Amino acid sequence: MNQDELKKAVAQAAIAYVVDGEVIGVGTGSTANFFIDELAKIKDRIKGAVASSEATAARLRGHGIEVFDMNDVPSISVYVDGADEINAAGAMIKGGGAALTREKIVASVSAKFVCIADGSKLVDVLGAFPLPVEVLPMARNAVMRKLASLGGQPKLRVKPGTTDAFITDNGGEIIDVAGLSITDPVALESEINQVPGVVAVGLFAQRGANVCLLGTAEGVKTLTF
Ligand code: A5P
Repeated sequence: MNQDELKKAVAQAAIAYVVDGEVIGVGTGSTANFFIDELAKIKDRIKGAVASSEATAARLRGHGIEVFDMNDVPSISVYVDGADEINAAGAMIKGGGAALTREKIVASVSAKFVCIADGSKLVDVLGAFPLPVEVLPMARNAVMRKLASLGGQPKLRVKPGTTDAFITDNGGEIIDVAGLSITDPVALESEINQVPGVVAVGLFAQRGANVCLLGTAEGVKTLTF
C-alpha cells in the first residue's frame, strides 16, 4: 500500500469511533481529509462537526456536513486528527498544516483524541519533524531568539515560492524549529507556552492522543495510551 492508501485505511477505521447523533471534532491535513470523505458517507448519523481550520470547514460543508461554531458546542466526545509525529506515549508534533492552534483548542474540549496516521509518523523521540510554533507577528524575532536559546534552529515559515510570511487562519505566523530532540515533551510544551507572543506550540503532550490508528503494511494497528 502507498502512503495515501495507508491514510485512507486509518480514516476508514476511525469511523468506528464516531458517536451517533453528536458533533464530531475534525482535524486538518491530508489524513484528516480522507476522514472527512469517510464521514460524508455516514453524515446522516451525526449532528455535525467542529472544524480545526477554514480548509476543513470548507471540505465538511462541501460534503453537506453542518459546521458548528465551537462557542455553541460545550463538549465533544471524539476528535479525529492526523499528526506529523507521534511517540509511544501518544505525545505528538502537529502543525505541519499550520492549524495547530485551532487543533489544540478543539482537542482541549474533546473527551477522546483519535490520532490517524500512516506508520512513518511513529517515532522514538519527537523532533526530527521541525516543531511548529504559532506567534503574534510583532513577537516573531523575540520568540525566535528564545527558541534558539533552547537549542533549536528556528525558521519563519513563508508562503510557497515567496519570502512573505505564511499567515494562519488566526492572523498569526509560524516558526518551524528544527534540530530539537524532545525527550520531555510535557516540559517543553509548558516552557514554550510561557514565552510571550507564543499563541500555541505544536507539541500535543499534556493533552496527547488517547488512541492512535496507525496504518502499516500489515493493516491498521490500534495503539492506546
Ligand atoms: C495540521 O496543522 C497538522 O497538525 C496535521 O494534523 C499534520 O500536519 C498531519 O498532516 P497530514 O495528515 O497531511 O500528514
